[in-house]
Amino acid sequence: MGNISRLTGWLILIVAILPASSSSAFLPQIPTFAAFTPGKGAAFPLSPNVRVLVDAHNGLIGSPTAFDFAETFRQDLISVTAYTHIPPVQVAPHAEGTKSNPVIFITINPKLNFTLFNGKTTNEGYQIDIVQHTVTISATAPIGAWWGTRTLVQQAAVANDSKQITFPSGRIVDSPGWEVRGFMLDAGRHWFDTSFLSELCTYASFFKINELHLHASDNLWNPAFLYGDGNEGWKNLYAAFRFRPPGGSALSSLVPRKNESWTQTDFLALQTNCARRGVTIVPEIDTPGHSLVINQWKPQLMENGQPDHLNLSFPETIPTIRSIWDEFLPWFQSSEVSIGADEYDASLANDYISFVNGMSDYIQAKSGKSIRIWGTNEPSRMLSVSKNITIQHWNFPGDDIPVRLMESGYEVINSEQTFLYLDGKTSEGGQFPQELSQDLIWNGAPGGKGWAPNIFSASDPSNNTNVANPKLRGSIMALWNDWGNNATTKLEIYYQLSRSLAVFAEKTWAGSEVRETGLTRDQFDAVYPILNAAAPGQNLNRVVAPTQGNIIYSFPAPHLPSTTSVSSVGPPYTLTFSVTPSSHSPDEGVLFAGLDSTLHVSNLTFEATGQLYSLGYTLPQHKYTTIAIHATREYTYAIIDGNTEDRRYWTTLMDIWGDFMALGNMSFAAPAQKIGANGFMGDIKDVVLRLGD
Ligand SMILES: *[C@@H]1O[C@H](CO)[C@@H](O)[C@H](O)[C@H]1NC(C)=O
Ligand SMILES: *[C@@H]1O[C@H](CO)[C@@H](O)[C@H](O)[C@H]1NC(C)=O
Ligand SMILES: *[C@@H]1O[C@H](CO)[C@@H](O)[C@H](O)[C@H]1NC(C)=O
Ligand SMILES: *[C@@H]1O[C@H](CO)[C@@H](O)[C@H](O)[C@H]1NC(C)=O
Ligand SMILES: *[C@@H]1O[C@H](CO)[C@@H](O)[C@H](O)[C@H]1NC(C)=O
Ligand SMILES: *[C@@H]1O[C@H](CO)[C@@H](O)[C@H](O)[C@H]1NC(C)=O
Ligand SMILES: *[C@@H]1O[C@H](CO)[C@@H](O)[C@H](O)[C@H]1NC(C)=O
Ligand SMILES: *[C@@H]1O[C@H](CO)[C@@H](O)[C@H](O)[C@H]1NC(C)=O
Ligand SMILES: *[C@@H]1O[C@H](CO)[C@@H](O)[C@H](O)[C@H]1NC(C)=O
Repeated sequence: MGNISRLTGWLILIVAILPASSSSAFLPQIPTFAAFTPGKGAAFPLSPNVRVLVDAHNGLIGSPTAFDFAETFRQDLISVTAYTHIPPVQVAPHAEGTKSNPVIFITINPKLNFTLFNGKTTNEGYQIDIVQHTVTISATAPIGAWWGTRTLVQQAAVANDSKQITFPSGRIVDSPGWEVRGFMLDAGRHWFDTSFLSELCTYASFFKINELHLHASDNLWNPAFLYGDGNEGWKNLYAAFRFRPPGGSALSSLVPRKNESWTQTDFLALQTNCARRGVTIVPEIDTPGHSLVINQWKPQLMENGQPDHLNLSFPETIPTIRSIWDEFLPWFQSSEVSIGADEYDASLANDYISFVNGMSDYIQAKSGKSIRIWGTNEPSRMLSVSKNITIQHWNFPGDDIPVRLMESGYEVINSEQTFLYLDGKTSEGGQFPQELSQDLIWNGAPGGKGWAPNIFSASDPSNNTNVANPKLRGSIMALWNDWGNNATTKLEIYYQLSRSLAVFAEKTWAGSEVRETGLTRDQFDAVYPILNAAAPGQNLNRVVAPTQGNIIYSFPAPHLPSTTSVSSVGPPYTLTFSVTPSSHSPDEGVLFAGLDSTLHVSNLTFEATGQLYSLGYTLPQHKYTTIAIHATREYTYAIIDGNTEDRRYWTTLMDIWGDFMALGNMSFAAPAQKIGANGFMGDIKDVVLRLGD
């Protein structure tokens, strides 16, 4: 080889290195990682040639294995970089990348030692070593390696505006501050299908959240119906139990609305999908309060005058509750379950405590699982809840004081409502914000400091504890659905959770004012939108790329019924069309239908999650009406025949605990898949769907 070509080779090498070495630090991401020590070498340039390899000695051990996680990682890298291809994952005894074949190697190394803030060992930590052509992710278990892959995918996403994505050379060492970093979803008062829940797991996992606490049974709370003298309203008050017993089971009638329940197959698939993203589903079956659904099935178990409470003293009550757990415990893959056990009669403290302790032993004996309960101060001088039950604190002062609980030996999870509660669509008297309050999370702790799982009180430092408290397991934020099925679409629930989960993830992984690397609020605000948009493996934003300008599609004269290639489009969007219904059947069929919503011709009624929202507008016959539907994440309205002065909003009516009715706006994704279907007779023309309201 002659001198000239060698010189050219060096030049190419230098040019290749230059842009890489210009970025010697990682860009901020969520959650931030604990520590990065820069190396001396060149950065690692990501490219479609990268090979993801898993250590042959340990990559196929566990469930999921490092190999399973690596394969998801590879797909996610493709998703955030828009590379058309990265070769499938392979196992290899060791790995060293080259310029033409850079390598990301994943290995399990039990000799490493990662700890939580309280010093306990965690298998969720990881280390990433980056040298010029090789990145090595090491962890003590596959789950740690998985969180390491999130760090790289996030970095690829935030660096994606540069021509060459690079990872600076050096070493990242990272582990979570707390073991429990979860979110609770009230799936008792609102129905959610498992594909939506699976998308939520995928989204949350991008931010290293590791639990979805699924509140799977509950009822609406309407005091007049429940406790009104002689009022039989409780018999029809909405109550639900979401696990569908197999055909012929003695529990069949526990689930009257089969269309709003999960089969074992669906639920197993949900758990598997979530586990493959590092998220454990912790199911909750709530008794002996919040149990209207059981009393609608077996009214003889009811407490006098309290149809949502079970009377634990009846001989049949506890065996019935146990039979429910007997049926469903084999479904559950988590090592812990929640038995709820909140808001029961203080006057029945001894019954309550014996029940809780008995269930703990029963579930342990039956399945090896331990249990959690919601914090409930049940005053008894004779008995106490056993210390092997984790208490999920949510409320002062009815709840036990969490610092006292921890002092006396209980393990505690922080779900304090002041910081961590949301309610679907709206809350009574503005008690809770639409999404977690950024002010509270960044500055709401005493002294203007940031919230973290060790903070229970905004005002009283004596109610807070140290990050190193060995009894503090972590935190679970909660989204309740007090106003039931028709208050929100499932996507509206996601809108409330999306940013909340990200900020919660930062604080439960990194704490507040613990690590120097902790994000500032400004850094969070800057990077969150990029990460939300890039979050792989799901499309809860229902983003669809426009075909031209901001136009998603345009059909001047569609042949009805028409099927498009677009299933659903998230707001903001505008859908315009002209329609004339047939005079023979002016109320029949749908104008538009899609994955998340349907627009019926009758009364211009939107349907979402099985609920109907009528605009109360009847289309005139023998003429075309022009309709423009404008939607944001806050509302959906129609402009009819260009009358922009008259915005007609689709709304819902919410029954606020039987006190009063409240009107709320509805946001619908665009029903984009079908035009003029399900028996629609008439004509639809000039259909244009574009981004932006
Ligand atoms: C990353 O960049 C590519 C090329 O500019 C682009 O096509 C792609 O949409 C970007 N991906 C994300 C998630 O921003
Ligand atoms: C891991 O580190 C912690 C804290 O540094 C220490 O207490 C513990 O003994 C170590 N464990 C192992 C297995 O090395
Ligand atoms: C619960 O059942 C017991 C046993 O039948 C009965 O004595 C008691 O009054 C009941 N309590 C309530 C609150 O219904
Ligand atoms: C919990 O602790 C109690 C003592 O408080 C003990 O009797 C019981 O066996 C323990 N149960 C489990 C499930 O470990
Ligand atoms: C703080 O704890 C005290 C008892 O230690 C309790 O009485 C009080 O309700 C708590 N208040 C708040 C706001 O945390
Ligand atoms: C399930 O069926 C009931 C009764 O027909 C209906 O009211 C409800 O809207 C349905 N739910 C869904 C999600 O379709
Ligand atoms: C249309 O809406 C009106 C008023 O909201 C209602 O009275 C009527 O029953 C509805 N018609 C149909 C077919 O749903
Ligand atoms: C929603 O459900 C409540 C009962 O929870 C009912 O009162 C209300 O009318 C419903 N709203 C709509 C728009 O159907
Ligand atoms: C619906 O949204 C519009 C626009 O923000 C607002 O003016 C109106 O008050 C909202 N309606 C309800 C019931 O919240």
